[in-house]
Amino acid sequence: MKNFDQPHDMREWSRLQSASHFSIGFVPTMGALHDGHKRLIEVAQQDCDRVIVSIFVNALQFNNSQDYEKYPRLIDADIQICKEIGVDALYTPSHATVYPPGFETHITPGATAAPMEGVFREGHFGGVATVVNKLLNATLPDRAYFGTKDFQQLAVIKRMVIDFDLNVAVVPVATVRQPDGLALSSRNTRLTAQQRDVACVIYRGLEAARTAYLQGEQSSAELMSITKDIYGSCPEARVEYVEIFDSTTLCTLQNISKRNAVMAVAVWFGDIRLIDNIEFTA
Ligand code: PAF
Repeated sequence: MKNFDQPHDMREWSRLQSASHFSIGFVPTMGALHDGHKRLIEVAQQDCDRVIVSIFVNALQFNNSQDYEKYPRLIDADIQICKEIGVDALYTPSHATVYPPGFETHITPGATAAPMEGVFREGHFGGVATVVNKLLNATLPDRAYFGTKDFQQLAVIKRMVIDFDLNVAVVPVATVRQPDGLALSSRNTRLTAQQRDVACVIYRGLEAARTAYLQGEQSSAELMSITKDIYGSCPEARVEYVEIFDSTTLCTLQNISKRNAVMAVAVWFGDIRLIDNIEFTA
């Protein structure tokens, strides 16, 4: 496995692969790799001749410095995982490489970034869009893979790729869950044993809403209150938002009779914030 930490070297390798007619898949990560990342890599390996994984904990997307400091960093274990599963190249730039002194140009996403995460994590998607743009420029992939757990992130990146005429296909990959429904996330490792036991309530709340929808309930207010009641019954859970919106425009929906809708939630357990979502397909 190749390991690059400079954009110039990374790009040169990618150009060589493309010149040899190998297609390139790219999986951007912030490390602490889990089965969700492995699934992204697996899908990329099925689709592409070469797969690049980046590991970079992007300070720019953390609106809370404690969250940034406490974010799990397991670089040696991550490198080992990437080797074992046959990643072709790892890109691990330092903070100073990505944001050298004098760095001042940021991407500001628009309406897609405004609701939900945009309300509670000011500046987050600007940081995500800026770093993903830089990572795409360094890796030059044909396809880039993102998990649907971060549904709004995926929408923001798809929009950026269109708006900036980037020559990459954005490929969504379904959320990987624990047997009890908890979506895999690097932040799960910070849950206490007790918080971990009850964190499956997140998916239970989402599923209850979907079940009600499949049984004919179409009012977003009703569906959201089903989910909130379930979260309300879990003393460890503190709900930040429960929203139902159009899966393409991310506009809030009052009624989900004719449109593809998604319910997204953010729930705190102590000082750990977890997000998840579920699709209602019309
Ligand atoms: O989803 C993530 O892990 C990050 O937001 C990403 C896309 C790697 C950008 O830092």
